[in-house]
Amino acid sequence: MTKKRTAEKIPQIWAIGGGKGGTGKTFIISRLAIFLASYGKRVILIDANFDSPNIHYFINFQNTEKSILDFFQDNENLENLIQETKIKNLRVIPGNQNGISFPGIKYKQKMRFFNDLKKMDVNYILMDLGSGSGISTLDFFLEADRKIVVTDLEILSIDNLFHFIRNTYFRRLSGLLPTQQLKNTVWDLWNKRTQYQIKTSGDVVRHLGKISEQMNDSSEKKLSLLQIHLIVNKVRKANDIMEGFSVRSICTKYLSVETFYSGYLEYDNQLWKNFSLVPSKKFTISPRIEQEIISIAENIKKSSQMKIDRIKNV
Ligand SMILES: Nc1ncnc2c1ncn2[C@@H]1O[C@H](COP(=O)(O)OP(=O)(O)OP(=O)(O)O)[C@@H](O)[C@H]1O
Ligand SMILES: [Mg+2]
Repeated sequence: MTKKRTAEKIPQIWAIGGGKGGTGKTFIISRLAIFLASYGKRVILIDANFDSPNIHYFINFQNTEKSILDFFQDNENLENLIQETKIKNLRVIPGNQNGISFPGIKYKQKMRFFNDLKKMDVNYILMDLGSGSGISTLDFFLEADRKIVVTDLEILSIDNLFHFIRNTYFRRLSGLLPTQQLKNTVWDLWNKRTQYQIKTSGDVVRHLGKISEQMNDSSEKKLSLLQIHLIVNKVRKANDIMEGFSVRSICTKYLSVETFYSGYLEYDNQLWKNFSLVPSKKFTISPRIEQEIISIAENIKKSSQMKIDRIKNV
């Protein structure tokens, strides 16, 4: 009889997304991976940004020919794509640096990808996603055990973040609906929200419940399980940190997604100095950023909110 794998043996998958480009997704997910690895956890970091893969710059890794694309294009075994890094306990599946971006990944392929990931004998799998709300980005994000979003405090970034979260919610909702017609209704209702007096993403669900028996309590319950972990990046002053709580409230109240404010990272004006074309030198960050990463990782692990006493003068 084959032994069933216990929950602790199945790797926990964390994915980071968030709409706007340049908010710090790659920086943060690679620091989280390095932190977990430094605590003796076996970690695989995956560059799933199909348009602008650049995780190698953040982990001092010289890219090879093999990449995540080989899995989707050539059915390559995942194990063969995992590369060692110079960082103990951290391995990587790099992004594709050669050729044009991949036109589209079938849903079945994505599910096979996650099935294969869950068989890996590691503790954590961390995944960097591209900006925007492309279908594959949303599906990768939705499949993760910890769904992390990051924003800076520019209004454009926050607006894109809300858009990303709404798209995530509606993508999950569509997946619960049995017919294409009903799936189309989701966006239809949202676009005509004034007419239907719809204010929140959850109102769309309730409205669907009125027009279709297919939308039942169990679908609503599944949607209510959707949780995200919010990080505010590039913070410059103490007041900025508080903004995260407002963003969190809006996510919970209007986007109908339970949101944990996992923490913030301050703006580090030395960070850019780490980048060079040849990744030869160690990537250094300030001790404060290092501390903030630890606190964020702990909050994500436990799905807990940032403690208010973490706020100090920035
Ligand atoms: N806390 C910070 N302080 C200073 N600079 C930062 C901070 N976080 C990120 N950056 C810088 O911002 C830029 C964008 O970061 P990063 O590449 O991680 O963003 P991204 O969200 O992954 O972008 P993309 O959407 O293009 O993938 C980089 O130059 C990075 O060094
Ligand atoms: Mg990136």
